[in-house]
Amino acid sequence: MQLQLAQLVAAATQEAVAVATRAELEAFKARVVGPNGSLTQVMKGMATLSKEERPVVGKLINEAKKSIEEILAALLVKVENAEIAAALGAAVDPTLPSPDAPAGSLHPLSRTRERILASFRKLGFVVADGPEVETEWHCFDALNTPADHPARDMQDTLYMPKAFRSADAPRKADEAILLRTHTSSVQVRTMLSRQPPFRIVAPGRCFRRDAVDATHSANFHQVEGLWIDRHVTLADLRGVLDFFVKETFGADAEIRLRPSFFPFTEPSFEMDLRSPNLGRLSNRWLEIMGCGLVDPKVLELCGLDPDEWSGLAFGLGLERIAMLVHGIDDIRHFYNNDTRFLRQFA
Ligand code: DAH
Repeated sequence: MQLQLAQLVAAATQEAVAVATRAELEAFKARVVGPNGSLTQVMKGMATLSKEERPVVGKLINEAKKSIEEILAALLVKVENAEIAAALGAAVDPTLPSPDAPAGSLHPLSRTRERILASFRKLGFVVADGPEVETEWHCFDALNTPADHPARDMQDTLYMPKAFRSADAPRKADEAILLRTHTSSVQVRTMLSRQPPFRIVAPGRCFRRDAVDATHSANFHQVEGLWIDRHVTLADLRGVLDFFVKETFGADAEIRLRPSFFPFTEPSFEMDLRSPNLGRLSNRWLEIMGCGLVDPKVLELCGLDPDEWSGLAFGLGLERIAMLVHGIDDIRHFYNNDTRFLRQFA
């Protein structure tokens, strides 16, 4: 009987190879464990055995039964997989995204940046770029910012450790490398690398040693603008900024240029905005960017003849604009990755 059982399992194993469909599986199952199946027959034979033989043979039968069950379970998986493959057809692309994966969306800062850039593109500005890890010269010296300016203080600006400096091939061996405090360094890089006339906007990340609160972040974003041409005037500056503000805040928005000081512009202004569409901030003058005409000294430092070339420049905080446009009251929402906040802009 032991031999009989071994043969039965061997035969079933061999037969199983040919089973491919559910109908074949059912037929196979009936042949082995059905009422007249081969294993069932053997089990019936138990009745003829002596009392002593029974436990021995019973154990063997149980083992055979287990083997058969394993074969049947494996066959079921095989048949089901074949059925799924047939249902999906031959051309399944497993790299396609799952149909029920939630669609992502642009971060509100990216969205605001794209909107701002789109407005300036309409005026012929193109996007320029510069490094976030910058030399002290590009960030300050070339922008006519004196060595004793507070922004150059170790306490205000994030300087890179000495070991890092050699890796970036600085202009001078002893030159300090820092995380740029503003995107104005892209003005310098653009003037050094492009032949005027040109108009550029440079969006990017900036860093300051600021304590974080509702309106300050050590890491924030700016959009810089620079237009270099012959005879660029304050009327151009006003026209460009007025266009941008009306595109962003609506046709009712107005601007005001208030005299100010920046080392790299002369004259310099703070630009204020007033709009009836800003909720509780409606109809109040709100400071949103610095601007001015490029200081001739900066043109000279960047290799341009100030008798031939002139320019206008401006720099705005991206977070500030996004907060005004959407009525957001805390800058930290932008960086917390809370989907309850982000989903509102999807
Ligand atoms: N770089 C200045 C800042 O971060 C902003 C600024 C002011 C940029 C005047 C300009 C400008 O281009 O003309 O505070």
